[in-house]
Amino acid sequence: MSADPSALLALAEPIAVEVADHLRASLTGAGPAVSSKSTPTDLVTELDTWAEAHITERILAARPDDAIQGEEGADVAGTSGVTWSVDPIDGTVNFVHGIPGFCVSIAARVDGRTVAAVVASPLHGEVFTATLGGGAFCNGTPIRCAAPASAARSVVATGFGYDPRRRTRQAEVVARVIGQIADIRRFGAAAVDLCWVACGRVDGYWEVGLNAWDHAAGALIAREAGATVTGLEAGTDPSERFTLAAPPEVWAELGAILVDAGAADV
Ligand code: IPD
Repeated sequence: MSADPSALLALAEPIAVEVADHLRASLTGAGPAVSSKSTPTDLVTELDTWAEAHITERILAARPDDAIQGEEGADVAGTSGVTWSVDPIDGTVNFVHGIPGFCVSIAARVDGRTVAAVVASPLHGEVFTATLGGGAFCNGTPIRCAAPASAARSVVATGFGYDPRRRTRQAEVVARVIGQIADIRRFGAAAVDLCWVACGRVDGYWEVGLNAWDHAAGALIAREAGATVTGLEAGTDPSERFTLAAPPEVWAELGAILVDAGAADV
C-alpha cells in the first residue's frame, strides 16, 4: 500500500476534523467523566479514550498493515513501514475546562520520519496540515513562521510537565528567561504551540518532557512553515529531553538563552 504523504494526509485530515467536531459538540453537555494518570493533575477523559479508539479504528479500516501508537495506550504493530502517532486530545486540561486550545493531533511516520500531519483545534476553528516537502497550511491557506528581529523581541510559548517538582523547576527557568525575551505564553497544548510557531503567532516554543505524540504532527507543520525544530542540539529531532521550535533568525540565540537558564536540566 502506498505511503505517499498526500494520501496519508487525505486519510488523516477528515478523521481529525470529525473527532475535533465531536469534542466541540460534547462541551455543551454535562461534560465527560474525568480520571487521572501519572499525577492527580494529569487528566484523561472518557472522550480521550473514545477518540483514540475511533481514530485507530478508522485508520486501520483503510490501512490494516500500518502501526499505531497513541497517548492513551494504542500500540498496534504493523508491517507497511507507516506508523501513526496519535494524540487524541492534546491539551486535555484545556478540554476539561472548556478552554480553547485543545486539539486532535495525528502524524504519519515512514522509517521514523514524519511525512504527513494534521492538528485540528476545534474551538479556534483551525485545521493545520503539512506534508514533508509540501508546505504547511491553516484551513487550506499556506502559512509561514514569523521573522523576529531578535530573541529579545520574541514572544515565546512553553509548557509544563505534570510532576509537581519538575513543573516548579520549569517555572524557575521561566523566571530566568522572561527578562531576556519579549514575553512568555502558556497555552496548554504542545501541538497548538508548534502550530502557532508555524503561523507566526508566537516566535518560539520550548518544552522538556514531551512524548512523540505531543510533538510529531506540530513539528512537521512548524518545519514546513520555515521554523527550525530541534532537540537540544542543532540538527537533532525533538525528543522527550528537549523540544525547541523557532524561526531560523532566532533559533540559536533563543536556544542559548534557554540553555543558560537551565531549561534542559529540569
Ligand atoms: C500536554 C500538553 C501540554 C504540555 C504537556 C503535555 P496532554 O499534553 O501538550 O501543553 O505542556 O507537557 O503533556 O497531556 O494534554 O495530551
